[in-house]
Amino acid sequence: MGKKMNKIIIAVAVVGAFAGGLYFGNNQNSTPVITNSDSGASYGGGFNKNAQVTAPTKKSAVAKRTVAGKTHVVNDGESIMAAVQLATPGDTIQIMPGTYHETVYIDKDDIRIVGVIKEGKYATLDGQRKLNDAILYSGNNIVIENMRITQYKGNGIMGQAGNNFEIRNNIIVDTGVYGIFPQLGQNGIVEYNVISGIEDAAIYVGMSDNIHVAHNDVFDSVAGIEIENSRHAIVENNYVHNNTGGILAFITPGLPIKTTFDVIIRNNFVDNNNHKNFAAPGSTVSGIPAGTGILIMAADEVVVENNIISNNKVTGILITDHENAPNTTIDPESDPAPDKVMILNNIMLNNGYDTIDEAKALMLTEFKQGNPDILRVGVSRDSCIINRHRYVTVGIDNWKECAFTNTDAIDSYILDEPVAPREIDPSERGKVVYMGICAGCHTYTGRMIGPPVQIIQALYMDNPQGIADYIAAPTKKREDYPEMPPQNYLDAETRLAAAKYMLGRKN
Ligand code: HEC
Repeated sequence: MGKKMNKIIIAVAVVGAFAGGLYFGNNQNSTPVITNSDSGASYGGGFNKNAQVTAPTKKSAVAKRTVAGKTHVVNDGESIMAAVQLATPGDTIQIMPGTYHETVYIDKDDIRIVGVIKEGKYATLDGQRKLNDAILYSGNNIVIENMRITQYKGNGIMGQAGNNFEIRNNIIVDTGVYGIFPQLGQNGIVEYNVISGIEDAAIYVGMSDNIHVAHNDVFDSVAGIEIENSRHAIVENNYVHNNTGGILAFITPGLPIKTTFDVIIRNNFVDNNNHKNFAAPGSTVSGIPAGTGILIMAADEVVVENNIISNNKVTGILITDHENAPNTTIDPESDPAPDKVMILNNIMLNNGYDTIDEAKALMLTEFKQGNPDILRVGVSRDSCIINRHRYVTVGIDNWKECAFTNTDAIDSYILDEPVAPREIDPSERGKVVYMGICAGCHTYTGRMIGPPVQIIQALYMDNPQGIADYIAAPTKKREDYPEMPPQNYLDAETRLAAAKYMLGRKN
C-alpha cells in the first residue's frame, strides 16, 4: 500500500510539473491551478442525517422484516395481481418464469415483488403495446426485483407517493414513457437495472428526497437518468449511453414541488449520448439537444465528479437556466438559475465535436477554440470548478475554484432508518394523488406529456365531476398528444378529490 501510494504521488508530481511548464511556456494563459483529489477537503453535502458511527455494510431503504410474512408463488399462467390482492403487509410475491399480461397495482405497505430467474428465463410482464403500466405502487416499503418488463405504453415501474423503496435487478426494455419512475417518495434505491428504449426518461426520479441511483445500464432512450424537482440524490456508477441526453438534474417549472438541489453525479460512464430525440413533441425532454452528456438545468448544488464523459457531440456538461432552454416556461416560484454547480475532476474525451450554434457563438465571444466539453448558458451563481485547464469550456471563466476536491465523505443519502409511511389525511387525498400521479404528466403552465393544467382549468372550471369521469375512461381529444391512460384503479371519491385539487391549483 505504502509503496503504491508513493508511486502515485510521484506520478502526480511529475504530471503537475509538466503541465505547469507547458502553460508557462505558451504564456497566454494564467497558471492553471492543479489540484489532486487525494488531498484536500471533502465536500460536506447539503444534508445532515446525524451521522451514525458505524455505517451498515449494505444500504437498505426498507425496514428489516421482524416477522416472516407469507410467500405467495405465482406460476406461469396465473395472475400476479390476484396474489397481491391476497397478500398482507410483510408478504412476498414470488413470480416464476413465464409471461404475464397485466398491470400490477400495489396499494398496501411492505410487499416484495420478486421475480425468479431460471437459467436466464425471467418472469416477464408484457403489455403487448396495449396495456399502459406494468407495476404501479402507492404503498410504502415496496421492493421490486428481478422482473423483466416490456411493451407497455406508459410506465414500467411507477411509485406514487410511496416511501422507502428498492427497485433493483429489473430489465425494462422497449417500454413507453417512463421506465422506472418513483414520484413523490422519500428514501429509495434504484440499482442494477437495465433499461432501454424509453421515449421520455429511462429512470425518472420525480419530486423525491434521499435517493440512490446506482449501477444501472441505461441506453437507447431520450433521457437516461433524470433527477427532477428532487433533493439529496446520488447518481453513481451507472453506464449511460446512446441516449439523447445522458444524466439530467433539473427543475421542471409548474410542478407542485419547486426545487432540485444537493445532487451528486459521480463515477458514471456517460458515453455517446447522441440518439435522435424521439420524445413527444413539445415535452420538456424533446428540447434536449441530441448529444448532451450531462444536463444541469435550474438545479442547485449539483456536484459532477469522476465521471468518464465521452463522445457526446453537443457537449459533455451543459449548464443552463430556464430562459435559455427550449420548451420550458417560467415558474415565478422556481429560481430559473442553476446555482452552486460544482465540477470536480472528470475525464472528458471527444465531446462537443458537432455542437449547437449557441455554443459556437459563445466560443467566438470568448476567443475559444476546439470542441466544448463544458458549456454554460444563462445565469449561474456561485458555481465552481477544479482543474478547468483540462477542458475546453464556454461560459465558466468567471467560476471560482472549488474549496474541496471530492465527495468521499458522503457515502449515501439513504437514511439509516426507513422513514415513516406517508400518512395521508383524508383531506389531503386529492393533493397526494395530484402530486403522486397527475403531476407525472401535467404541469401548471407548460406542456409535459399531457396538456397544461391552466388549459384544463379553463375547460372544466366548475366541473370537477367532469374531470373525475374523464380520467376513469379517457377518450382521445387532441391530435398532437398521446392518449391519457385511464386512472380507473382509483375509486370515484379519490378521482373527484384529485380533480378538485387540480382545479384549485394556481401554479
Ligand atoms: C401518463 C400521463 C398522464 C397522467 C399520469 C395523467 N394524465 Fe391527464 N392527460 C394526459 C394526456 C396525454 C392528455 C391529453 C389527452 C388527449 O388530449 O387526447 C391528458 C388530458 C387530461 C385532461 C383533459 C381532458 C379534456 O377533456 O381535454 C384532464 C382533465 C386530465 N388529463 C386530468 C388528469 C388527472 C386529474 C390526472 C391525475 C389523476 C391525470 N390527468 C394524469 C396524460 C396524463
